[in-house]
Amino acid sequence: MSAVGTSQPKPGSIEKVGLRKIYDSRGNGTVEATIFVSGGHPFHASCPSGASTGAHEVTAFPEGSVERGLENAHARVLPHLTGLPLGDQSAFDRVLKERDGTPNFSFLGGNFATALSLAYARASAAASRRELWEQVALELGTPRGAPPALVGNVINGGVHAVGGPSIQEFIAFVQAPEPRSVVEAAVMVHREIGQELRRRFPSTALGRGDEGGWVAPTDDDTALSILAEACHKVQDSGKFPGTSVRPGLDLAASELFREGHYQYQKRRLTPSEQVRYVADLIEKFDLAYVEDPLEEEDFQGFAELTGMFSGRKAPHIVGDDLYTTSPERLKRGIRERASNSILLKVNQVGTLSDTLEAVRLARAAGWSTIASHRSGETTDNWLAHLATGFGSAGIKCGVLGGERVAKLNELLRIGGGAFP
Ligand code: PGA
Ligand code: ZN
Repeated sequence: MSAVGTSQPKPGSIEKVGLRKIYDSRGNGTVEATIFVSGGHPFHASCPSGASTGAHEVTAFPEGSVERGLENAHARVLPHLTGLPLGDQSAFDRVLKERDGTPNFSFLGGNFATALSLAYARASAAASRRELWEQVALELGTPRGAPPALVGNVINGGVHAVGGPSIQEFIAFVQAPEPRSVVEAAVMVHREIGQELRRRFPSTALGRGDEGGWVAPTDDDTALSILAEACHKVQDSGKFPGTSVRPGLDLAASELFREGHYQYQKRRLTPSEQVRYVADLIEKFDLAYVEDPLEEEDFQGFAELTGMFSGRKAPHIVGDDLYTTSPERLKRGIRERASNSILLKVNQVGTLSDTLEAVRLARAAGWSTIASHRSGETTDNWLAHLATGFGSAGIKCGVLGGERVAKLNELLRIGGGAFP
């Protein structure tokens, strides 16, 4: 751990800041930030990394290197953080941006900015004797409500799983009045799918992909029907009263888009055929959730699809690579009615403040928000706090795997009430 700063800190201010290279769930290097506060214990936060990153995300690490990020942070950023008061997130994040001095965190690295921004948020919440989720909820005026639905990836494909389906994520969308049913119903869907895959592929070694969902040598159509079947089974089991378990997809369509067409294992579609294909899937399988159905520049295609579904029956049509959590891109999406929901990944934009701005914009437009993990995760659990504090309709954090379960267990702590 290296630390900076020797001046006498005021109470409630940053005494020193440390950065450490740590590893994510794929074994890739990432960063953990630690903020030391005068007279108190240190506050840590780490940052995950994506594989199907959007073109408009900020730069994760300068020149792709954690080491270069460490050097740059020590040279130009950390000395300016010492002595800053706690409790002013936008001022802290502004210093990060100013010291970085680029439009996309290409000097400091968006992952460094994210880790620093969230470690600061934790320190500030604690200084006010609040939990992180409470602090965020207060900042946004979020009322206490039902826990976020779990957007749980149960079959992996695309760039997260070699040899699996073309579609990146087959999802169980689980909504319940309390978090324990959310988690247990999602785990049951995951198990049901495992059993069905073993039945269908008795002599094949099955495994799990980057986000903890199953990987099997199956195609999109089969994976989707296995998913829908498992969701129905859990829904109809009678074990989870008041709980809704429905299928969903993240098509991560930019990853499928080549030379003007969407290229699947078994089909090649023009953009307008893609809109029709996804609309048919929504109707046929009663999908509750559809993420990135079109590639990341196609606001118009998104709008066409969104326009086909309205009212209470409309699924969450979610922009991930389309918006990359950027308030500016979200404003365009709202103007063009491109979707009805935005995925929020703090490290796509680099600061909690900009993510809070995206939540405010989405809310004002009547859109839902989904707070999301990355495919390369750490065991940090701040995502559970953000999803709760944002009042998000969903938390996308996978179902199994220690780094995913870390978020789910934290949801239980936040929403579980008193000890029995
Ligand atoms: P990533 O993908 O974390 O690999 O970018 C997750 C997603 O597309 O939602
Ligand atoms: Zn996505």
